[in-house]
Amino acid sequence: MGRSWTDSGLTHTALVAALLMGGCPSKPAEQHTEAPRDGVVDRAMSFYETRAYYERPVVATAVPKGLVDLRAETCGACHEEIYQEWSVSTHRRAWLDDAQFQKELEKSRGAEDPTRGDVSWLCVNCHTPVVAQQEKLVVGLTDGRIDRPQYETNPTFNEALQRDAVTCATCHVRDGIVYGPYGDTQAPHPTAKDESLLKVDVCTRCHQAERLYISENLGCFFSTGREWAASSYSEPGQTCQSCHMPEVERKLASAFDTPVRKTRRHWFGGSLIPKKPEYEAEIAPLREIYGNGLSITTQAVTAEIRALAEEAPALAKQDRALAEEKTLHCRYCKSELAVVIANDRAGHYMPSGDPERHVDVEVVVRRGSKVVGRTWTRIGSRYAWWPEVTLLADTRIPPGQRRVLIVPVPSGGEVEIVATKARMYEEAFEYHQLEGRYIRAREFFRATISVP
Ligand code: HEC
Ligand code: HEC
Ligand code: HEC
Ligand code: HEC
Ligand code: HEC
Repeated sequence: MGRSWTDSGLTHTALVAALLMGGCPSKPAEQHTEAPRDGVVDRAMSFYETRAYYERPVVATAVPKGLVDLRAETCGACHEEIYQEWSVSTHRRAWLDDAQFQKELEKSRGAEDPTRGDVSWLCVNCHTPVVAQQEKLVVGLTDGRIDRPQYETNPTFNEALQRDAVTCATCHVRDGIVYGPYGDTQAPHPTAKDESLLKVDVCTRCHQAERLYISENLGCFFSTGREWAASSYSEPGQTCQSCHMPEVERKLASAFDTPVRKTRRHWFGGSLIPKKPEYEAEIAPLREIYGNGLSITTQAVTAEIRALAEEAPALAKQDRALAEEKTLHCRYCKSELAVVIANDRAGHYMPSGDPERHVDVEVVVRRGSKVVGRTWTRIGSRYAWWPEVTLLADTRIPPGQRRVLIVPVPSGGEVEIVATKARMYEEAFEYHQLEGRYIRAREFFRATISVP
């Protein structure tokens, strides 16, 4: 396994791309500009305003009148269906229910290595984004270093709310007002219309953050927003929500006498790899609704297809070694078949998001019951985290593009294609001892084709 990985003490968040982009995107402060400030929350807000948008929590501390608190379960007492949907989403799992996250968070506090500082205050802004979800708030940085946060106890901290992770209030509540798409509802809480809820910004505040913190050897590598913006899916009217929050007509709150409205599903389905074995049953039905980003087909080898196969970016060294280990050169094979892997359903690279996400495609060639050939490839990115964050390889497929494997086949043989998508590399899975507690990957495609 990569020594680098365990030594780094770091997480998936690491970045090279920001160097290429010439820096880290930073939005001006939008809220809470009133002075003077004396409470802990206000002092923390003054600090956060000086930071990039993804280094800040969301200000939703005031509980809307008529509600007891900001917890999703509280909203769910009336908005049952939306609550049920959100409850099985990965957003809901982004804090406690994720065996990997808590371990990585511990590491980011410098727990394993006292010479390291604490960068965990960065993590919580995306995983528990609402101010009241954070036990401690940051009011400054010693020597301006991101791994030397000056913490203060958050008087508004609510532990139950923390467990909600990316909760309703993240996107819907500001300063005690519940924002929604209508603005004309008879709700038992204050509401206002927010026309920007369908904009990508609602998602990219967490799904687009690229930055390398060189001295701390830490980086942030979320480029889904940029990938989308560069794609044909960024045409007016199409956003993350178009694919991840499908439309449905229904009532918002079954116990109230309110009309059927145009609404959106809150499953936020993506890879649909359940984080834990026990989530499989609740996630399985969503696969019919969302589908996969990649489609896999076979066809005859043409000149165009051969050119595409030759353009494929090189695998990182460790994956090349794996590919060699798995490859079986077919001695009986006189013809060829092209396996075409197309990113025709995702509005961003496949895979996207966490830099450890990857897709493995294996093609097994048989004659009778005998395996006579095997081809294997990996689609994903590879970084070295130590001693410097470095991009080693990027074989991900941009939206609308294809990757081709040319497979030697025998006449009268059979070709079996198996594709798997994974959240993390084997090294990290083993290092964190997640066997039985976490699902690393799932098979999403299997087909057998007869060769004439
Ligand atoms: C800018 C927002 C942001 C910050 C800061 C952030 N994360 Fe994340 N994190 C995300 C997003 C978005 C995803 C989902 C990406 C995906 O599903 O591929 C994620 C996913 C994860 C996952 C799950 C990965 C997987 O493949 O299942 C872990 C573990 C994690 N983050 C840990 C951390 C830790 C530890 C830190 C702090 C060092 C951190 N995150 C900081 C936004 C953030
Ligand atoms: C006591 C019941 C109840 C609770 C609790 C509740 N809501 Fe509502 N909410 C309603 C009703 C009723 C409506 C109006 C529905 C309609 O007219 O279709 C509504 C409307 C909304 C709207 C649409 C507003 C608009 O004008 O676009 C949003 C968004 C919303 N609620 C979110 C939330 C969130 C988030 C929470 C928790 C922080 C929450 N609600 C808690 C009953 C409730
Ligand atoms: C406050 C930060 C935040 C916001 C805002 C946010 N996300 Fe996420 N999202 C996350 C985190 C964190 C994860 C990963 C959680 C984990 O893996 O434990 C995630 C995971 C996902 C996943 C991956 C699911 C999977 O299991 O493969 C999808 C898809 C997704 N988000 C879509 C969206 C969309 C669409 C929006 C906007 C409507 C959005 N997110 C807004 C933080 C956020
Ligand atoms: C990651 C952001 C995000 C989270 C988390 C989130 N929502 Fe939404 N919500 C949206 C978006 C986007 C819309 C669609 C707005 C539109 O159609 O203009 C929406 C719409 C709604 C509506 C109006 C009806 C509809 O579906 O369009 C209600 C009510 C609502 N959400 C309640 C909730 C509740 C309750 C939770 C928590 C259980 C929640 N939301 C969590 C982003 C979010
Ligand atoms: C054209 C539809 C479409 C659009 C637009 C889109 N996505 Fe996706 N997204 C998908 C599909 C399909 C998947 C499932 C990929 C797979 O098979 O794992 C996915 C997967 C994801 C994942 C999990 C990563 C992975 O590799 O599976 C995240 C996170 C995500 N999307 C976030 C976003 C965000 C944020 C936006 C907007 C900036 C967005 N998506 C726009 C279709 C879309």
